[in-house]
Amino acid sequence: MIKEKKIIIANWKMNPVSEKEAQKLFLSIKNVASKLLNVQTIICPPFVYLNTLNKLFKGHRIAVGAQDVFYKNTGSFTGMISADMLKDNGIKYAIVGHSERRSLGETNEIVNQKIKLLLQADIVPIVCVGEVVRDEEAKHFDFLKNEILNSLDGVSAGSLENIIIAYEPVWAISTNSAGVAMNSQDIHEMTIFTKKVLSDKYGMKVVLPKILYGGSVNVENVEDLIMNGNIDGLLVGKASLSVNDFKEILSVANKM
Ligand code: PGA
Repeated sequence: MIKEKKIIIANWKMNPVSEKEAQKLFLSIKNVASKLLNVQTIICPPFVYLNTLNKLFKGHRIAVGAQDVFYKNTGSFTGMISADMLKDNGIKYAIVGHSERRSLGETNEIVNQKIKLLLQADIVPIVCVGEVVRDEEAKHFDFLKNEILNSLDGVSAGSLENIIIAYEPVWAISTNSAGVAMNSQDIHEMTIFTKKVLSDKYGMKVVLPKILYGGSVNVENVEDLIMNGNIDGLLVGKASLSVNDFKEILSVANKM
């Protein structure tokens, strides 16, 4: 059986503060990532560094992705970047629906528009979903289902294999949780649930999106999360800004 590659995404958020530092960080990660046979590494820097970093590598083991995209392709929208612009710059991935964007007003309907425009531009949308809180009545299941179905409304079954879903419970993101990730058994349960939501909608025969976990991933928990979380990879925020930590996360993923 061919071992499926793990997908490890670095979400640099609004870091680092200079292009020089961005290049240095990227090149150090590239040195390791380009040797790993079992990992697809995707670095998502701020927009302003995308082009420079995109020129610093060849091959497929490492790639760069955008952290967002606008939900329309043309028009007078000051400050926005379209899917077609990303495509023209050779960008192959873009995060949409990150909780930090949702907290600024991004709705499932907006996420849905972004996904469709990215697919049209042959860019893989990395769709972030995840509940804000967990409660004893388990309303987080309905919340997640609603988020997935509304975000994918009108997206064809055939497009699913070109989408990545990043399950990121908002409460587990390092800035909200003081660095405590979701327990791997619970992640396992949520990935099964996500797959069920998708196969109920699209049928059993479709190729489902890869499902990643994100939220306080670090060198201590990476092995457990990959081994027991039933996931295809990870979306890493804070730990992706430390060269040593991120290299370690990549190496662990490569061994599993
Ligand atoms: P974290 O961030 O790894 O720092 O929790 C993850 C994210 O926000 O995507």
